[in-house]
Amino acid sequence: MALTQPSSTSGEQHADAVLLELVTNRESCRDPYRAYAEMRSAAPIFRSSFGTYVLTRYADCWAVLRDPRCGKDWAGFMRQSGIEDWQQHPSLQGGDEWLLFANPPAHTRLRRLVAKAFTPRMVSRLEPRMEAMIDELLVPIADAGGGDLLDALAFPLPCNVIGDLLGVPEADRASFREPVRISTRTLEVGVTPEQIAAADEAVEWSWGYFQDLIVERRAHPGDDLLSGMLAVEEQGDRLTTDEIATMALLLFSAGFETTTNLIGNGTFALLNHPSELRKLREQPALITPAVEELLRYDASIQISGRFSNDDIEVGGQAIPAGSTIMTVLGAANRDPARFADPDRLDVGRRDIEPLSFGSGIHYCLGASLARRETALALTRLLARFASIELAGAARFRDQLGFRGLESLPVRCGNA
Ligand code: HEM
Repeated sequence: MALTQPSSTSGEQHADAVLLELVTNRESCRDPYRAYAEMRSAAPIFRSSFGTYVLTRYADCWAVLRDPRCGKDWAGFMRQSGIEDWQQHPSLQGGDEWLLFANPPAHTRLRRLVAKAFTPRMVSRLEPRMEAMIDELLVPIADAGGGDLLDALAFPLPCNVIGDLLGVPEADRASFREPVRISTRTLEVGVTPEQIAAADEAVEWSWGYFQDLIVERRAHPGDDLLSGMLAVEEQGDRLTTDEIATMALLLFSAGFETTTNLIGNGTFALLNHPSELRKLREQPALITPAVEELLRYDASIQISGRFSNDDIEVGGQAIPAGSTIMTVLGAANRDPARFADPDRLDVGRRDIEPLSFGSGIHYCLGASLARRETALALTRLLARFASIELAGAARFRDQLGFRGLESLPVRCGNA
């Protein structure tokens, strides 16, 4: 992280110190919410000592995410992270070719070519298969009277759903868990050279895997999204092989890592709030607002970012053209100006619209899928077990941007 300019007011200096502690002290990022509140009240918008503008209010994050004058700038993000040689790293080069970091018109084109596979209607077609998967995954937990809910349910469910959809053979799916986790580190503020080296290895392996799978699917097309991407032609436009490999890797990784953590963080939050858990048991129809509340309460993606292509004004403050902007989604979701009693988990809360899936043109492509997977997983988990409780310490990983538990040991009593 290169220091570019000191913050000016004492509020900004304080907010900056809190942020630096959060991104450099791996212990403090395990529970960031107090720090977010401190930053928001000291300076809701400030220029950090590593050069980026930091936003912690809901309205400000929402406005920037939807502002057409704000886009993505992968090279700028790399420079701001102090990674000058990013083009030499397999895990970082070509970042701007990912849908997630592309700008229109490239973004519009890439998104159009895959969006159809993730509409709410497509997701509802997957429901019976998802329910069957969940029931199957709950059998060993019932037999053992508990287990690690991350390993037993929260990881295999979304991994198998997106694996089925894309056409990744079942036997190969689990081997992506660690490489994906390792590569998410490159998107964290303060990533180290060792973490980048590990991510390079992980991405090279994953990239090679999808290149081979594409060769196989060209020879033997199946009824899956990868074969669909190879065949798709819209208005005379096709995806190149590299574009398909990049997209497949993004969809597969995004398809399980974040949803695993939503199911994990959400279940953990409910187990820590027995009255809310009871409310959900007694009123299963609350599951839809409950998932929104769990997304708000402890989102699995805490941070997103943009680049100002023009001078803009946010929340009464000027941000000059050429600035990187950090939208702290996890802080926006706890903003008292938007949510009454924001630190309280309330599964009956209405009018939530958390920023956990972002907003604007990069709004999460898999939001419907992730919501449905989580709703079904929680509904069937509660229906299957009369009692569920924590069976040991559950710790959050030492990552701020990608928030998830290391493990979630539970004890379950049969209904
Ligand atoms: C709880 C689960 C999930 C969370 C919290 C989440 C979060 C997000 C967020 C915050 C963004 C926007 C990033 C930005 O504005 O820069 C995003 C974009 C995206 N997500 Fe998700 N996601 C989840 C699940 C999924 C799933 C299941 C898939 C795949 C099927 C997926 C695929 C994507 C893709 C492809 C984008 C990029 C969209 C674009 O740039 O147009 N996500 N996600």
